[in-house]
Amino acid sequence: MAQPPIRLSIVGFGEIGQRHAELITADADCLLAGICDVDPRCRSYADKFGVPVYEDVKELLETEKPQATIIATPNRQHAAIAELCAKQSIHILIEKPIADSMEGANRIVKAAHDNHVQVLVGHHRRHNPLVQETRLALQSGELGKLTAVSMFWTLMKPINYYQKQWRCTRPGGGPTLINLVHELDLLRYLCGEVRQVYAQASSAARQLAVEDTLSISLVLESGAVASILASDTTPSPWSYEATTRENPLYFPNDENCYYFFGTLGSFTFPQMQRWRYTSEKAFGWQHPLEMSQRVVVRADPLKSQLEHFCRVVREEERPIVDGRDGARSLALVLAVLESIRRQAPVLLTDSQP
Ligand SMILES: NC(=O)c1ccc[n+]([C@@H]2O[C@H](COP(=O)([O-])OP(=O)(O)OC[C@H]3O[C@@H](n4cnc5c(N)ncnc54)[C@H](O)[C@@H]3O)[C@@H](O)[C@H]2O)c1
Repeated sequence: MAQPPIRLSIVGFGEIGQRHAELITADADCLLAGICDVDPRCRSYADKFGVPVYEDVKELLETEKPQATIIATPNRQHAAIAELCAKQSIHILIEKPIADSMEGANRIVKAAHDNHVQVLVGHHRRHNPLVQETRLALQSGELGKLTAVSMFWTLMKPINYYQKQWRCTRPGGGPTLINLVHELDLLRYLCGEVRQVYAQASSAARQLAVEDTLSISLVLESGAVASILASDTTPSPWSYEATTRENPLYFPNDENCYYFFGTLGSFTFPQMQRWRYTSEKAFGWQHPLEMSQRVVVRADPLKSQLEHFCRVVREEERPIVDGRDGARSLALVLAVLESIRRQAPVLLTDSQP
């Protein structure tokens, strides 16, 4: 027998909150029970969903009593709102990063544990079939032992992006915390934990309090090395969003943004091209490389994440990114920021969650 739809609310009705609302209303497994945003101007675009709109999160939770809530506020507010939800036994999908500090992340993990609620952190890229297929390729051993990874996140943010003050001030703002948290989370998900980071950043182009360009060098627990080159102020096609075509806001292209290197072959993402020698006898730079391509059926990872969250709320699945996992990705982001501040390498210690 079909189960009744899960009653979901959204707290924070900005850019990503609105996308979640569209997806919820299109999904038969859940329904939108209410919206909360402290900014009364959000009513003008929330009204079209025909659900109650609140400015106070407590009022939303107490009146509508949703089973689960999506927290899509600025990063600074995540922990306090998650605690309110947990105390009322409301399951949580919390946008990435889980919080803007380890203290905030630990509060969320503790509140969820103490009140027996599920936390799914919105690292939605892990739900992308291209990412899942890349993980299979890396785990299959067909590239041999992973030796190196190169990731690019280079693009031009639109002129109005930094008009939102929280995005260009610390703590809580800046491309490392808002954007590169995705690359860092994917690096962990695809290639394993990171042992050490050394990052250098520049704000020379935008002259903001937050960085606009970074070079991050990482050593993984496996011994492989990785580099991430990022800039949000350059006309460039080499970003995850534009090359995977997963976000309709970005003009798409067919370039790559990540490269994986192993002792037996190399692999491009998201073109999914694997390069290897044709045989063990023809091995070395004097021989031709053969290219093969994995074919992947694309799907919207935000939609897949919502479907997964519904199954998590129904206790049919464990969260793909639980609070502790999200906290580990945050710890890596904070290590990058710490390395920039100290101008020195930073070790990821066992004391992280
Ligand atoms: N998964 C993704 O790809 C993705 C993309 C964008 C943003 N995000 C994350 O989503 C979150 C929001 O980002 P955004 O770009 O949508 O921000 P935004 O500024 O567009 O929207 C945030 C909204 O939250 C509201 N708000 C602030 N404090 C509140 C409170 N206490 N209670 C209720 N509402 C409150 C603001 O008024 C605003 O409307 C951030 O954590 C960000 O990192 C994730």
